[in-house]
Amino acid sequence: MHGEQLPPFRDPSQPLEARVDDLLSRLTIEEKISIIHADSKFTTAAVPRLGIPRRWLSDGPHGVREDIGPDTWMPAGHTDDFATAMPAGICLAATWNPDLSFDEGEVIGQEARARGKDIMLGPGVNILRTPLCGRNFEYFGEDPWLASKMCVGYIRGEQSEDISSCVKHFALNNQEDDRGTINVEADDRALHEIYLPAFKAAVEQAGVWSVMGAYNQFRGQHCCENELLLNQILKKDWGFKGLVMSDWGGAHDTRECALNGLDLEMGTDTNYDNYYLARPYLDMIQAGELPMTGLDEKVRRNLRVMIATHMLDFNRKPGSINTAAHQTVARRVAEEGIVLLKNQNHTLPLDPARIKTIAVIGENAVRLQAHGGESSEIKAFYEITPLAGILSRVGSKANIIFSEGYCKGARQDLVERAITCAKSADVVIYVGGLNHDPGYDCEGADRKDLKLPYGQDELIQELVAANPKTIVVLEGTMVEMHAWLDRVPALLQAWYPGMEGGNALAAILFGDVNPSGKLPATFPKELSDTPAASFGAATYPGTNGTVAYTEGLLVGYRWFDTRQIEPEFPFGFGLSYTTFAYSNLKLIPTWDGLTVRFDLKNTGDRAGAEVAQLYLHEMNPRLMRPAKELKGFKKVFLQPGEKQTVSISLARNDFAYYDPVQHGWVAQPDDFEILIGGSSRELPLHANFHLKPQ
Ligand code: GLC
Repeated sequence: MHGEQLPPFRDPSQPLEARVDDLLSRLTIEEKISIIHADSKFTTAAVPRLGIPRRWLSDGPHGVREDIGPDTWMPAGHTDDFATAMPAGICLAATWNPDLSFDEGEVIGQEARARGKDIMLGPGVNILRTPLCGRNFEYFGEDPWLASKMCVGYIRGEQSEDISSCVKHFALNNQEDDRGTINVEADDRALHEIYLPAFKAAVEQAGVWSVMGAYNQFRGQHCCENELLLNQILKKDWGFKGLVMSDWGGAHDTRECALNGLDLEMGTDTNYDNYYLARPYLDMIQAGELPMTGLDEKVRRNLRVMIATHMLDFNRKPGSINTAAHQTVARRVAEEGIVLLKNQNHTLPLDPARIKTIAVIGENAVRLQAHGGESSEIKAFYEITPLAGILSRVGSKANIIFSEGYCKGARQDLVERAITCAKSADVVIYVGGLNHDPGYDCEGADRKDLKLPYGQDELIQELVAANPKTIVVLEGTMVEMHAWLDRVPALLQAWYPGMEGGNALAAILFGDVNPSGKLPATFPKELSDTPAASFGAATYPGTNGTVAYTEGLLVGYRWFDTRQIEPEFPFGFGLSYTTFAYSNLKLIPTWDGLTVRFDLKNTGDRAGAEVAQLYLHEMNPRLMRPAKELKGFKKVFLQPGEKQTVSISLARNDFAYYDPVQHGWVAQPDDFEILIGGSSRELPLHANFHLKPQ
């Protein structure tokens, strides 16, 4: 193309819409149709005549999934499809660090480009409505404000690498049981105040280029062909200009898809020409039953994403893979996402110089977790297990012994061997929790309870009886702990910490890193304390094909605080090896809201980071509002003795609730309590602010 004039659609100097218009005008109707449906498991067809390459999509939220066969769900068996395995989404959320989320998205975007991908199928931002949902590990927890801030960083990072993110699953896909058919009924306030904000932020603040419709129905219409969600809210109200793709097999009717906002149909069925947006759609257009303008709008959105991600340009970013920088980000996310939940008498950090023998016990100490969980799985270049991390960190200084303790099936002899091991050690590091076996933290099915599997409750009790200095590390999402929690001196929640997880855990256990993670979801004492378990089967998992979100706004801490139920560990909670003090709260009214200023001091003897959280409580709400709502947070890194003044600004709209009669957000003039602290239940600073009429 040297010397001769580039056609406008190929000319990067042309405005985006002009390039889209030019390319659209050159496509035949058959070529247009070929762009809006899959031609293999993770691709759409090329248009060689115009130099449009085949488009590659790939999972997922934790990194670039191994290549899957073109027409199966089986791995393609390639040897060049490894990737950096980031910690699970819930671990990233537990960092409460949007800058780190950007870094993670940037790494995944670079690796996606290096692996030749065009659209990455993540992040997943569905709200943790029930702790039983099999995919909670992939998402960002129970609070819409936290999920919004964390997904915006991630998407900005990923899309900065000439890749389209694809925020999912839009919307109200909060359970895996019956996910393909379940009809969700939720009221407008829960919809707009709890389940939509992260998606809205992805569109309005991060400029996400793709959205994946969910498998479930909402108010009787499948989410992949939902007039209200796709045409009205996403495209009209929010002004979304990118493409909406179906989850795999989430489309159900040609006319519904054509008219209700689906722009790209992906699927499991291999008869791609028969997809709803393939031959059947072409036939209906050619028969005059559906307008050509509808097809053009779908194609326009696909072309917009292609051109915006420089798919047709010669200078597209090449990416990189498994660099030292990528490994560092993977480790930092784990280090900042692991949450210290208990640390009696400064049990942690351990001083290896004063320990002769460490017993590492538990199958999860050696289990590889990255390559599990279904679509978010990663074929990692390597995975540092907890045992490997501990050996690497202190193996030359202390005697490390290991015992599996438990596994699926086998029992008593493992327990006896583990007890013997515990008795012979100065300290026990127990690594247990969940895994990605179906029925635990895995796509496609929900958990049946919150119990630790494989007899771990009894095992932990026996271990701590054999050796009181038993530190418990749990991988996976939340479990019930009351069987042993009061007898255990220290507890860490490690989630699924990714391929550098063992190194991050060891760094925390031995004090190289001061833990700073905070819970992105409430840890209940009992499943029965949770909102989705409090109104019978109709509320979860649903009856007669419908699940009713009876709890409305009261999800997570909103439920526990409004109903004054004591959690095991509250939302936003996490300990440090140092201590922090809050003081000197000031409220400075601004032209459109309020600036909240306060001092935060590291009152301990080691550097550390605190996530200062801001909650609002409306004093005289016209409509019911939860006891408190997260409306701001800042992660502050402080040296020992250092004090910083922290400033969090609130816009008027941050005081608003969604009014179902006015169909919009209303910031009611009223008194608001401003609450500041390091956990939703430890808010030492508070003051009242009167929001004046506009
Ligand atoms: C799955 C998941 C979705 C994933 C897609 C492709 O069913 O719901 O998150 O991106 O199919 O694997």
